[in-house]
Amino acid sequence: MTTPIAIVRTVDDLRQRVAKWRKAGETIALVPTMGALHEGHLSLLTLAKSRADHVVVSIFVNPIQFGPREDFNLYPRDEAGDLAKLGKAGADLVFAPETAEMYPQGFSTHVGVGDLTEDLCGASRPNHFDGVATVVAKLLMQCSPDIAMFGEKDYQQLLVIKRLVRDLNVPVEIVGGPIVREKDGLALSSRNAYLSPSERKTAPLLYQTISAVAADLAQGRGCDDAVVAARFKLDAAGFRVDYVAVRDPDTLKRLSGPVKRARVLAAAYLGKTRLIDNVPVPPKK
Ligand code: PAF
Repeated sequence: MTTPIAIVRTVDDLRQRVAKWRKAGETIALVPTMGALHEGHLSLLTLAKSRADHVVVSIFVNPIQFGPREDFNLYPRDEAGDLAKLGKAGADLVFAPETAEMYPQGFSTHVGVGDLTEDLCGASRPNHFDGVATVVAKLLMQCSPDIAMFGEKDYQQLLVIKRLVRDLNVPVEIVGGPIVREKDGLALSSRNAYLSPSERKTAPLLYQTISAVAADLAQGRGCDDAVVAARFKLDAAGFRVDYVAVRDPDTLKRLSGPVKRARVLAAAYLGKTRLIDNVPVPPKK
């Protein structure tokens, strides 16, 4: 039988637990999440366990990273299910604060990470990355972990967080975990639950298309041609494409012509569901 996992809801309680571990000279990893946990999150937990003595998982659906017309109210929430999964997977502690604990009355400080956040997802989701940066800065200060893990599926988010930590001298190592996929290639995401059965069948085409772009680029094809062909394929399959882009994998700067090393990133709607994905160039073997 699995022991029920310990859960704290206040910053004071979190700090007390973490302080005990620190006093014993033990290391701490933080895995920030918005809950509705799937194998992608659990793979970050496994990675965290291999890198630290204790793993804290935060569960907080962060209201300030959702736009006014986005899915904050609909976002899947299943705390009991999440706790069961985390207990079984061996997390040490869950931090699941209420909104008022994170954003007390009069909260007015925001963290913004300049140029990395202006386009790609930042262009269609204004303020999204400020909301992410603000909550992640808070979580890092509340927990003071040695390392914190974030999935590569949110590749732009991962780079934003790395930049935040570098620029503000936050003493933590940010570790990116590889994307976990369904058998047909669809990247795991809590939002996949919104897909209708027919959208679910179409969804893997996003991964197939950007993988084809990566393969073409590796063969010397120019970025612009490859992107136009990918958009055409996705449009024809019924996606509403937000972007398909080939970027520098460290700075997200635009690239053109043939490239040796890059990241292909895409975001596209199927019905009301916004899917994102990305792959490296050269493709992983
Ligand atoms: O990737 C997520 O789930 C969220 O953006 C994060 C990093 C937990 C911040 O709310």
